[in-house]
Amino acid sequence: MKIIASNFKTNHTRKSTKEFVENINKFLKDENIDNEVLIFPTATSLDEFSLVKNLTIGSQNAYYVKNGSFTGEIGTDQLDEFGIKTILIGHSERRHKLGESQKDIALKYNYYKSLGYKIIYCVGEPLEVYEAGLTETLGYIWEQFDGIDLDYDNLILAYEPVWAIGTGVVASLDDITTIHKKIKKKISKPLLYGGSVKPTNLDAILKIPNVDGTLIGTSSWNVEDFKQMIKITKDN
Ligand code: PGA
Repeated sequence: MKIIASNFKTNHTRKSTKEFVENINKFLKDENIDNEVLIFPTATSLDEFSLVKNLTIGSQNAYYVKNGSFTGEIGTDQLDEFGIKTILIGHSERRHKLGESQKDIALKYNYYKSLGYKIIYCVGEPLEVYEAGLTETLGYIWEQFDGIDLDYDNLILAYEPVWAIGTGVVASLDDITTIHKKIKKKISKPLLYGGSVKPTNLDAILKIPNVDGTLIGTSSWNVEDFKQMIKITKDN
């Protein structure tokens, strides 16, 4: 069964997040949808929600500590308050806009792995690497697995080409087919695709072999669009 995840990034307030999560929860219940659905709200909107078992709230980020002096960060004390046990690690915006190194990412990964968190681990190449060709692209992606234990049970991977994130430019079906096949050949974990997924292209993307679901930003922030995409996911 395919997976669908929504990454809110820096969008929605505490109030609108609550409405969104409750709306999706009711929808999954009313429509008897069993697919795994994940929502990653902002840290300020994390809360204790009463949810159906296939709907999970995760954290977009957290530091690799329980607590301490790390201004602007949150640790597991803050996640534990709401029973959060799912985290996004290695997202391209954290790598490229916020300067997280592979070393930081591996430390974070190992910390959350040691605590048994479900980890959605993201990889993907920037445009200049994509333009350099497939060998360069794959080389770049493999380096993003440095220090990452790929045998970890509670791991979901996401391939998200940087040039397709938030740009409206989706990778071609051929590109997705090729990269997903290569990754799956090496790593047998659920593998999501992310990057400008929307209601109009989701069905075709989910039909690609080795695509186990999607991680969606922009077009998931509207609850009706997200519901429509959950339905498409259910039917695939
Ligand atoms: P997008 O973002 O759907 O807005 O391209 C995807 C992501 O960053 O996970």
